[in-house]
Amino acid sequence: MSRKKIIAGNWKMNMTPTEAVELVNTLKPLVANDEVDVIFCVPAIDIIPAMEAAKGSNINIGAENMYYEDKGAYTGEISPAMLKDAGVKYVVIGHSERREYFAESDETVNKKVLKAFEYGITPIVCCGESLTQREQGITLDWIRQQIKIAFLNVTADQAKEAVIAYEPIWAIGTGKVATTEQAQEVCSAIRVCIGEIYDEATAAAIRIQYGGSVSAASAPELFAQPDIDGGLVGGASLKPEFGSIVNYNK
Ligand code: G3P
Repeated sequence: MSRKKIIAGNWKMNMTPTEAVELVNTLKPLVANDEVDVIFCVPAIDIIPAMEAAKGSNINIGAENMYYEDKGAYTGEISPAMLKDAGVKYVVIGHSERREYFAESDETVNKKVLKAFEYGITPIVCCGESLTQREQGITLDWIRQQIKIAFLNVTADQAKEAVIAYEPIWAIGTGKVATTEQAQEVCSAIRVCIGEIYDEATAAAIRIQYGGSVSAASAPELFAQPDIDGGLVGGASLKPEFGSIVNYNK
């Protein structure tokens, strides 16, 4: 089955609203590629100005997080209804930085995944191991556990629409991109795990990204792998280089 590539930038805590509009305008001509779904996941305060700037282009604006309640006394949080009303179609859930700094757990990831689907927002579900876990040889068991919990009570039809981002923690922001073999091995294991949870059709349909120091140099080989359907890109998504990553196949 052929799956359309999906390449997302994760801006993290970067770009003021003014800078966001400037960056979208700079990247707009560089990221045109009708063979790829292109997403800019931006800070909440940038969503509306970035979406306005992206109008008429192939750029989808996504969020970097959301809460799992509909509304209420959760100071500082962003609700799924707010994202939906703003026109957001994708949301990153469970990024390792949110697990590390903001007590995100597999259980809260699952609550957010279910809530995102309830509001018609596609979750980009992050998973990944630490360097210690890789050195201990428990990477695949760790990732399988993350996926099984994240997808609890998610239907097969929902899972087909989901995106999973495999991001080895030791590769994030370090310049140490995983080898093609490492990335393919884990993404393949993720697809097998989805097949075990659901069925072969769902495993074939779900899109799996690699993230962690993706660059214009590493993207073509990574994205050519049978089980890697694109990337979740941090630092390089803030630069014109992101255009080369999106056009990895040209
Ligand atoms: O979510 C993507 C991010 O974690 C990867 O960051 O800077 O290593 O591409 P970077």
